[in-house]
Amino acid sequence: MVSLRIVEGRGESIMEKNVSLHELELAATQFMKRLNIGDVIYMEGDLGAGKTTFVRAAIQSVAGIGEVVPSPTFTLVQTYDTHPPIWHYDLYRLTDPQEILELGIEEAFSQGVTFIEWPQRMGDLYKGRHYSIILNSSNQADHRLLTIVSP
Ligand SMILES: Nc1ncnc2c1ncn2[C@@H]1O[C@H](COP(=O)(O)OP(=O)(O)O)[C@@H](O)[C@H]1O
Ligand SMILES: [Mg+2]
Repeated sequence: MVSLRIVEGRGESIMEKNVSLHELELAATQFMKRLNIGDVIYMEGDLGAGKTTFVRAAIQSVAGIGEVVPSPTFTLVQTYDTHPPIWHYDLYRLTDPQEILELGIEEAFSQGVTFIEWPQRMGDLYKGRHYSIILNSSNQADHRLLTIVSP
């Protein structure tokens, strides 16, 4: 069981842990419990790091394990009518930052919990408070270094 220990320091709260796939899913489930409408979460890490896997587990923890959570690689956004409502963005294929206004980002920020893969594609469009979930490779097979930075 992974404990989502948030360590306060330098104005940021940081949790860092080497996690298996199962532990990452548990961490996502626990993290989801902290979130409220208006929270924005930047998902950071390379292709295949586990960003979508983390968001999928977070969504399924409130929508039910049967909820199909596709990667928004091509649709750029998927929405979930959950409590709280969830917007899941993958901006990898975004060409112009202005495009995300058409993808309902303002509605997402005001009405739901918003997970964003490839947030750097937004440019300067959003400068507000956000969590960062950072996934890095681990020297242990099928593990990831999971870092959670709170706003
Ligand atoms: N500890 C782990 N945490 C997250 N994903 C893992 C882990 N170990 C193996 N994986 C696998 O790595 C892949 C991550 O893919 P995905 O979540 O789509 O990455 P991303 O969205 O960052 O491109 C999945 O196939 C997942 O099963
Ligand atoms: Mg992804």
